[in-house]
Amino acid sequence: MRMIVQRDYDQMSLWAGRYVARSIYMAEPKQNSPFVLGLPTGSTPLGMYRVLIDLCRKGTISFQNVITFNMDEYVGLPIDHPESYRRFMEDHFFNHIDIPKENINFLDGNAGDLKEECMRYEEAIGSFEGIDLFVGGIGNDGHIAFNEPGSSLSSRTRIKTLAEETRAANSRFFGEEISQVPTYALTVGVGTVMDAREVLILASGLNKARALKHVVEEGINHMWTVSAMQLHSRATILCDEDATDELKVGTVKYFKQMEQRNLDPDSLLPPEARS
Ligand code: GLP
Repeated sequence: MRMIVQRDYDQMSLWAGRYVARSIYMAEPKQNSPFVLGLPTGSTPLGMYRVLIDLCRKGTISFQNVITFNMDEYVGLPIDHPESYRRFMEDHFFNHIDIPKENINFLDGNAGDLKEECMRYEEAIGSFEGIDLFVGGIGNDGHIAFNEPGSSLSSRTRIKTLAEETRAANSRFFGEEISQVPTYALTVGVGTVMDAREVLILASGLNKARALKHVVEEGINHMWTVSAMQLHSRATILCDEDATDELKVGTVKYFKQMEQRNLDPDSLLPPEARS
């Protein structure tokens, strides 16, 4: 597993956006061989989405031949609720890029049969021969998507009960009212993420520091589900300095030294698009 440390949130977002853009244009996607991108919600990826929107507006990148799969969705929130993940993605990303609507995939948290909906999602991912790059965030308790502590590390898309810690953390989007945060969500499994050809995890801020320490320095453990990425052949943790606060000084130094040639976000752009 790689770890790329950037000085702050903005620089981390720049690196993330340019890295995703580069992955797409290097793949030279066509209509019959699209690039398949897994995407997260949360406050962390907002900066990355802004960078991608900017690159799309400038013509550096196009999403015409990109298929997206979002990681998760609350159960029972009306589709146009401002905090539904579908609405979040439309407001912050999809409505601002050139992606065809039919290329966008979400879990439907209002489906009549939620189990069947989860199976449909796995099949849809399979119909594109899997995900090329899965971008994810990390919960304060080390979860990926909504794979809360104790989730099977080989889990597939399914319904999950949300942990109190997650509902409390997400209550900031629901007027600080924990009772307004849904109790259940549909989420891709840890196994679903592990099947992606590449995984990029974003972590920013002091409240992610405890999780990062467990995920990077300790063993694979179902209580910190992102730690499963240690077994992935192409997984990268991209974080800012604050998120490294509980890692050993030597660990941070080690990864910075290993990645010194890859730290400059400018190096991720094609020469003609560099500033
Ligand atoms: C939710 C989402 C996760 C996300 C996490 C962290 O639990 N299901 O996908 O990674 O929040 O969100 P934030 O980036 O706002 O800290």
